[in-house]
Amino acid sequence: MSQIKCIGILTSGGDAPGMNAAIRAVTRAAIYNGFEVKGIYRGYKGLITDEIAPFKTQNVSNIIQQGGTILKTARCQEFKTPEGRKIAYDTLVKEGIDALVVIGGDGTLTGARIFATEYNYPIVGLPGTIDNDLFGTDTTIGYDTALNTIMEAVDKIRDTATSHERLFFIEVMGRDAGFLALNGAIATGAEAAIIPEISTEVDQLEELIKNGFRKSKNSSIVLVAESPITGGAMHLAERVQKEYPQYDVRVTILGHIQRGGSPTAHDRILASRMGAAAIDALLEDQRNVMIGIRNNEIEYIPFNKAIKNDKPIDRELLNTLRKLSI
Ligand code: F6P
Repeated sequence: MSQIKCIGILTSGGDAPGMNAAIRAVTRAAIYNGFEVKGIYRGYKGLITDEIAPFKTQNVSNIIQQGGTILKTARCQEFKTPEGRKIAYDTLVKEGIDALVVIGGDGTLTGARIFATEYNYPIVGLPGTIDNDLFGTDTTIGYDTALNTIMEAVDKIRDTATSHERLFFIEVMGRDAGFLALNGAIATGAEAAIIPEISTEVDQLEELIKNGFRKSKNSSIVLVAESPITGGAMHLAERVQKEYPQYDVRVTILGHIQRGGSPTAHDRILASRMGAAAIDALLEDQRNVMIGIRNNEIEYIPFNKAIKNDKPIDRELLNTLRKLSI
């Protein structure tokens, strides 16, 4: 049986809608099971600066519907150094925190893996990122909300694109992953998605747009995943504009609007289930795993698998987009 008495929670890296729902779930499930809970502010930075407060059930009241994270977040460079992690460990000992639940993306789980190994310290991770780029879970907390934000924005752009008969390149987030761009394109009926996982066939893209314009369409929308591999929307638009000066090309970069807003029901439920599962995992003496949900089943995914960067893009989605964008 676990010797854990007090659990610390933190959110780190880029915020994602549903992080608050996850904080609420972890706090309440921990208290339900008789644990003490402490909230750590500003991600790993809070472990270095000792910004920590006890969390009771009322600390997490009325937050399930809020975007962002009440614990704040940061990308902490100091935690990447052994010296920084030593300070963090000393803080955990001083605060009497016996285990951590960390909520974040790739960078957060990488930090957790290194720290857990270095100090033999129990950590459970929750996948909180709009990018959906963690292996071992069908979706990550925040992804569905971001996808819906993209959909609403692109629908609006479609109105003006159609009125002016323009070709729009719309850049979406995702770091090095194309999930937001590909599914965003399907959801909005876009003509194409340019994603880092598939080599950018600019000629094919141009062909597609040309055919679309020539046949029945009077506007075109291409979703571009931000990434050095795709080159981004601005770069692609410049190339296409140069080749095809007859097109009236515009670029929109959706930016951080994609990270905000009230989480969808999907993200609230996902975060609630994963938060409760994190406490179950600690009760079962699981450590250094990320909670995933695949095919509606909770799974424990070792950190090194989750962050290996090999969550594949579903070819069926790509084919669907191609078939439906004619
Ligand atoms: O990981 C989430 C994310 O929004 C990525 O999609 C994006 O590349 C990055 O964070 C932006 O980070 P920042 O807000 O630090 O500029």
